[in-house]
Formats: sequence, structure tokens, C-alpha cells
Amino acid sequence: MAAAALPIDEIRSRFPALQQAQVFLDNAGGSQTLGSVITAIHDYLTKNNVQLGASYTSSKLSTDLYNKGYKAAAEHIHAPEDSIVIGPSTTQLFRNLSYTLTFPAGSEIILSKLDHEANVASWVDLAQRCNLTVKWWLPDQSTERSFNKSNPKLTPENLSPLLSSKTVFVACTHASNILGTIHDIKALAKTIRAHCPEALFCVDAVAYAPHRQVRVVDLDVDFYSFSWYKVYGPHIAQLYASTRGLKAMRSLGHYFNGSSSLQDKLGLAGGSYELVAAIPAVTDYFCKVAGSQNLFWTQVKGHEEQLQKLLLAYLTSNDRVTILGEQDHNTDVRVTTVSFIVQGRRSREVVEAVDQAAGYKQAILSDGKDGDMGLGESRQFGIRWGHFYSKRLCEEVLGLEKDGEGVIRVSMVHYNTVEEVQSLIEAFRQVLG
Ligand SMILES: Cc1ncc(COP(=O)(O)O)c(C=O)c1O
Repeated sequence: MAAAALPIDEIRSRFPALQQAQVFLDNAGGSQTLGSVITAIHDYLTKNNVQLGASYTSSKLSTDLYNKGYKAAAEHIHAPEDSIVIGPSTTQLFRNLSYTLTFPAGSEIILSKLDHEANVASWVDLAQRCNLTVKWWLPDQSTERSFNKSNPKLTPENLSPLLSSKTVFVACTHASNILGTIHDIKALAKTIRAHCPEALFCVDAVAYAPHRQVRVVDLDVDFYSFSWYKVYGPHIAQLYASTRGLKAMRSLGHYFNGSSSLQDKLGLAGGSYELVAAIPAVTDYFCKVAGSQNLFWTQVKGHEEQLQKLLLAYLTSNDRVTILGEQDHNTDVRVTTVSFIVQGRRSREVVEAVDQAAGYKQAILSDGKDGDMGLGESRQFGIRWGHFYSKRLCEEVLGLEKDGEGVIRVSMVHYNTVEEVQSLIEAFRQVLG
């Protein structure tokens, strides 16, 4: 039996920002925040803004709220609490992590050219500090028969030749923040374990976590990070470390504090208390809005499939458009981050023309009739152009102009509606002809 549809009206009513005419389609940059998260932050600062760990009543309450935040964050990825740490951003967490690791000179690390720079720069720097060799992982036209320049993927097949007895560390992304392509992390971990059982595997899940449920232990990774501000929550991020990963790290904490958990080693005076305390508001939402967390994520998948099917169908129908990433709307292979370029048009100019095309009141409904969107003339589309910090991907893999305008990106999440996508397509039709 097919899962029930996502309760979209109920969902949208929970996001204060969605009550405006702005259509939010830059969600891979940052999602909108749940009203309950805003309330939790307000409440914490209003009633409980004291130091943790003291014996007086307010401090006990604050400590409890903070601990509940950590517990909810760990449960969200089905991981033990001592295996996670919360910090300001994924970029910062990876950077801090890189200062805890050291490898013998001459060892090899494998870095992907499909990644956001957050999961590259710290490791390049680590390689320089420790005299390691960087091996770049990218699908290669010269060696792969099935290579498609506009749809590059990280696979066990293109990883295997890079692995050697000297490999100590491998980093890649779960989903690309430009291509939307989902990588099979479990299969990649299996390949790494088979060739180099000691190597550490670090995965950036920032572009994946807003779209799918995560069971991190099933993935067999050593480090895994995502950012809550893209998962409908506050501006903080979370890192997981496996037992092996944790063991390989030295502690950056004070000498007189513990060093057994990831928070001990990397917590560095704790995450922002009011933001950590707001995490249960996000995870409660996942559990309650559709009846259960499992059901929520199943319904999200179904809804996202509808959204990307519509947009991809339009884009593939335009001969001048090249979709970057999977053209298939199957939600097992991609998330709703859709990027493309247009022959003969600059990415910036297209996005700015869509900005000017604001005010679409009418969308063509699937039955071919005009439908009133009920948003008056002021509807504005929030899409974006650029390399989105995946500069190596844009220039060295996709072959886009160096320091150019990159791609046009439309990044949808579960609170976007079919009508929003239909009206965006209408805007593209007017702009692209
Ligand atoms: C795939 C990916 N990784 C990492 C980051 C960096 O996340 P943060 O802003 O939390 O450092 C981003 C941000 O856009 C991203 O899209």
C-alpha cells in the first residue's frame, strides 16, 4: 500500500517564514526554521540563560535542557550520545577534527573532487602538516567507459584503484550539494574496509540529512557530519565519530577534563546552549507531524519525487539546458537539489531574470487549467547561481569556466509544494523561451 501523502498544509503552518510570498528554493544553502525551534530558543534565553552544571534550580534546568538536546541529536542519527559532538558548523567541526588526527609521513589520503570545500580544505592542510600524499578521487573520462561529464559519481569502482596499503584516510560526500546525487556510502565503506581495514572514512552529510533519515551505524563510517540549520533547526552542526575514529583522535580539551567521549575531545566549551536546547523541537516535529518518524521520512521521499519529477521533466524538455547530476527523478539516486546550465546564457543572468519574473500569480495545473496560487502578484522565487563552495567540482570535473558563474541551482525540500515548482517552471519558460 502506498504511503499517505505528506500533510503539506500542516507542515507549512509550522514554519513562520513560509507564511510569506517568498518561494524558498535555496534550501541547500539553509532551510527555514520551525516555529517551535524559534520558541525553544526564545524560552531558553528568557528563562534559563545560566551556566550549566551548578546546583541551583535554573542551572539544573538548563543542564537538563542541554542534555536533552544532545540526547535528541544522537537519537536522530541512531548513535550513542558519547559518539557525537555539536559545534558551530560542519566546516568548523571538520577543521577541529583535523587538528586531532595525525598520520605517519608518506601515508596516503583520498579526497574527492565532488565535495564541498568543507570536506577538503582541512584534509589538504593536514596532509601538508604531516607530509601525506593526497590522491584525488574523481570519475575519470580516460578510464571509465560509462563516464558522463555532466553526471559524475563516486563509486566503489572508481575508488578501488586509489586504495593502497598506505591509505589512512578517505573523505567524500553523502550527497552532492550541486548534483543532488546520492552516493552509496555503505558500499564505499565496504570497499575501503576490504582494501585497507585501518583507514578512517569521513563523510559529509550536509546535503543529504535534510532529505533522508540517517542510521549512521549502518553506514560503517568513522566520521559523519551535518548541519542543523539545513535540517529546519538552529545554526549549529553535529559530528559523529565511530569507536575507532574516536580512538584515533587526540583531545583538544583542557588537560583536567575527561577525554573519553567525542564531546570531551572536540566540544571545546560546548555548543551554543540555547541552540542545542532547541534540537528536540526539530526531532519532535519529525516524530509527530506524520504520526511517526519513519512515516515522515517515507512521505518526504514520495513528496520529493513529485517535485523533482516535475522540474527534471521540464529541464530535459529544453534542448539548451544541461542538467548536472542525475536526470532520473528516482529518490534512491538523488535528492531535490537540481542544478543546470543553459547554452548561450550566463547562470547569473538567468537567475536575475527569474528574480525579475517575480509576481506569477497563476500556475498551470496538471489538468492544463490555470490555477490561482492565492499569493497575489508578489510571489518571488529564491533560487541562486554559483559554485556553492564546490569549486573543484564545477571547474575541474564539470569543466565550467574558471572563476565563472557556476550553475543555476534550485534546491527544494519537503515543505515546497507542487504549485511552487509549477510556477517556477512557468518563470523559467518565460525567461528561457
Ligand atoms: C555539502 C556541504 N558540506 C558542507 C557545508 C558546510 O556546512 P557549514 O555551513 O555548516 O559549515 C555545506 C554548506 O553549504 C554543504 O552544502
